[in-house]
Amino acid sequence: MQDRQEITMKFQELKALCKSAAEEVQKRDSLLVVSHVDADGLTAAGIICTALERRNIDYSSLFFRQLDETALENVADFGADLVIFTDLGSGMIQQICNLGLRAIVADHHKPAKAEARPLAHINPHLVGADGATEISGSGTSFLLASALSAEKENNDLAALAVVGAVGDLQNNASGALPGLNRLILEIGSTAGAVSFHRDLKLFGRQTRPVFKMLEYSQDPYLPGLSGNEDACIAFLKEIGIRLGGEKWRRWIDLSQEEKASVVTALLRKGLRSGLSSVMLERLIGEVYILLHEREGTELRDASEYSTLLNATARYGYADVGLKVCMGDRDKSLDEARTLLNQHRQNLVNGLKLVSTRGITPLRSVQYFDAGDSIQDTIIGIVAGMSFQMADRTRPILAFARTEEGDLKVSARGTHDLVRSGLDLAEALSRSAAAVGGVGGGHNVAAGATIPPQSKDEFLQLMDAVVSEQLSRQKMQNH
Ligand code: C5P
Ligand code: C5P
Ligand code: ZN
Repeated sequence: MQDRQEITMKFQELKALCKSAAEEVQKRDSLLVVSHVDADGLTAAGIICTALERRNIDYSSLFFRQLDETALENVADFGADLVIFTDLGSGMIQQICNLGLRAIVADHHKPAKAEARPLAHINPHLVGADGATEISGSGTSFLLASALSAEKENNDLAALAVVGAVGDLQNNASGALPGLNRLILEIGSTAGAVSFHRDLKLFGRQTRPVFKMLEYSQDPYLPGLSGNEDACIAFLKEIGIRLGGEKWRRWIDLSQEEKASVVTALLRKGLRSGLSSVMLERLIGEVYILLHEREGTELRDASEYSTLLNATARYGYADVGLKVCMGDRDKSLDEARTLLNQHRQNLVNGLKLVSTRGITPLRSVQYFDAGDSIQDTIIGIVAGMSFQMADRTRPILAFARTEEGDLKVSARGTHDLVRSGLDLAEALSRSAAAVGGVGGGHNVAAGATIPPQSKDEFLQLMDAVVSEQLSRQKMQNH
């Protein structure tokens, strides 16, 4: 555990990096914000674009699945005076500079080695913090936004940074947002924009009838309840929970006593059906409430908000998600909700596919190949969810075909494996580069795109690199 002083020091160091960046922003006329197509990328862009609007600075925005050479050429062709990269860019610093772009990068991915330097690079790895858990892309963007404002004008945007961090699952390892995220949370809380408390972590607390919340729970999967409406209704009735009157009751409609009795019964049932302690721990944790949003809407809860955003950008509707982040509660929110229904269905179908096809174990990794059946933009989410119920002693790799005919790889590990030496960002970038692809990300979650014919070779390389990572650490400990 880091102490508060250490975290505060890192926070100040990152803020110092933002100062010169903010000065650059004031100097330029045409600005382009470039971000990533997921919840963290959208909230990152939403934070920066809002901060720019508040200063009456014009901007344009572009979103990419990954920042490869082609994407960078598009960015260069745009011809902006200054480019702000958010939630991506750290892996491509050299290429960004080679193109002669005037750039600020606010990211949290593991930086690739580079000789060149952009105008400013705001990244937790540069101050000794972990980009997988301590701060997200929207977090570093929030620090930049703070530097752009007079006084505390942008502190309310900390709420969006919390949504981004939750979207990147940064609260999963310890059941609460750790590290630098904690300070951002406090800023948001002082600004009256966000609150937090310990609660049941199941999805849909704001929007679903309680029995549906249980029935739809995939992460964690509740044996005997998930996927079984009748069982969920019977379970609640047995412990005396009224399901509804005029309207179905949602989790937020239950009294403290009722909530406590559901939690107790869930834990008891979980224990009886052999749910692992990891799963039981994941049932309860810190949850984050966006105080300026209406109760009973997706936007009120950081986890539901982030899923709503993922349902837009990952399907090519980043503009819809960005507008929601920037306050549109009419047309864009309606569109996002429609996309959310489809997204949920896609995730359920994806999980079914994995359980039918199965996961193949190798020596140190395991994998499944979804072919064309799961879109490459959500394969990472499906991999992460399937992994919850799979063998957790080796990282999981998932393959999906991209529209361009390449092979997308998503990899997920556990924090225990990371402590044992696993670094998926390193493993994927090395193995992908060896077969002519590109990869990167975080120690616990990373991705790559590789040529389709190189799948077997790539798997062997990954198996070898991960074996080496895990044994290296073992040697050091002996
Ligand atoms: O690109 P980006 O950094 O936004 O994505 C982070 C990814 O890492 C997310 O897809 C998230 O699901 C994954 N992750 C994870 N487990 C963690 C931390 C992050 O699966 N503990
Ligand atoms: O796409 P997926 O969710 O599997 O990505 C996991 C993590 O790896 C994300 O943080 C993503 O930004 C990163 N990634 C990357 N380079 C790639 C693919 C994914 O840095 N080529
Ligand atoms: Zn991110």
